[in-house]
Amino acid sequence: MLSIDFDHRPQGVEPLATEPTFHPGRHLALEKPKEIISLTEFGYSAEEIAACPSDFAATDIFRILSDEGAACLYEVCKQLEAFTTSNPRIQRNMRGGVYRSKFLRDLCLSPDITAFISEICGVELLPHTIPHQMGHLNYAPDKIGDNVDKWHVDTLRYDYVMFVTDPKKNQGGAFQYYRGTKQEVAALHKSGKPLDPAKVVSPTMPGPGYAIMQQGNMVVHQAKGLTAPGERITMVNGYIPKDPHFPDFTRYDQLRFADPEEVVTAEYSRHIAIQGQRMLDDVFGKDGFSSNRYGYADRLEAVAAMLTGAAQQIRESDSETLEHFGD
Ligand SMILES: [Fe+2]
Repeated sequence: MLSIDFDHRPQGVEPLATEPTFHPGRHLALEKPKEIISLTEFGYSAEEIAACPSDFAATDIFRILSDEGAACLYEVCKQLEAFTTSNPRIQRNMRGGVYRSKFLRDLCLSPDITAFISEICGVELLPHTIPHQMGHLNYAPDKIGDNVDKWHVDTLRYDYVMFVTDPKKNQGGAFQYYRGTKQEVAALHKSGKPLDPAKVVSPTMPGPGYAIMQQGNMVVHQAKGLTAPGERITMVNGYIPKDPHFPDFTRYDQLRFADPEEVVTAEYSRHIAIQGQRMLDDVFGKDGFSSNRYGYADRLEAVAAMLTGAAQQIRESDSETLEHFGD
């Protein structure tokens, strides 16, 4: 079975010399969200929802880490802050931290969290198989008032956004999402009109270690800048549906804006290889010895089409812009 080898690191990436060890029993404090909002409530059509792995859109605030867990993650994030990079959407982010920090990696791969959020989302999930889509860290820009991240949808299916620092100590810095469709936001942005303020939701985060889970490709969201000096760090962890037949939402052309080309290309190719293998497992094991010859042919063709589509993305994706909906 293909899997990610985290000890096989991109060139120049070294593990942290010292860091805490992740202990799920002490560091997790999983508490279910009180509210789960559906894609229907966001205004998506039955047809659009049927194309998604589940009707889940977003949760209200829920807890992931204990106080001790949040303190350990903060310690790791302070060490990783030395490796932040910029892209056209985010001034200071740190990607690929799972290669440097075993704590971050173990947190992102935690089977306890994966099972917990799978239940919330109504679909069985797996940690993302692109390492740079795990444990993404955002740090507030140096200039007060600049947004941490612009309005956008994610180039992945499911993710949670968790505060590492205490949001109550800051002025501004809210995580916001838009309770409408991405098509609505795209049309408003194209015509230069503002978003409907009545649909902008700014959940109140009670402390570090609390998060929102979202179907990130369907929920338009942003991270506001601080309005006074302070420290704001958030972590985003990505997931994919366990069922490999849902189309993959990874955009190779978009990831090229965020990470070095050799890293994006290798990680994306491996991610596709793993998805292909999971699809092939289905071909191999599903029917035993069946006379359903067209069923076999369909499944083999589905694997071939998925691989060809990914190869085309790699060959032809030379986008000039990183897509977003502005500040
Ligand atoms: Fe996002």
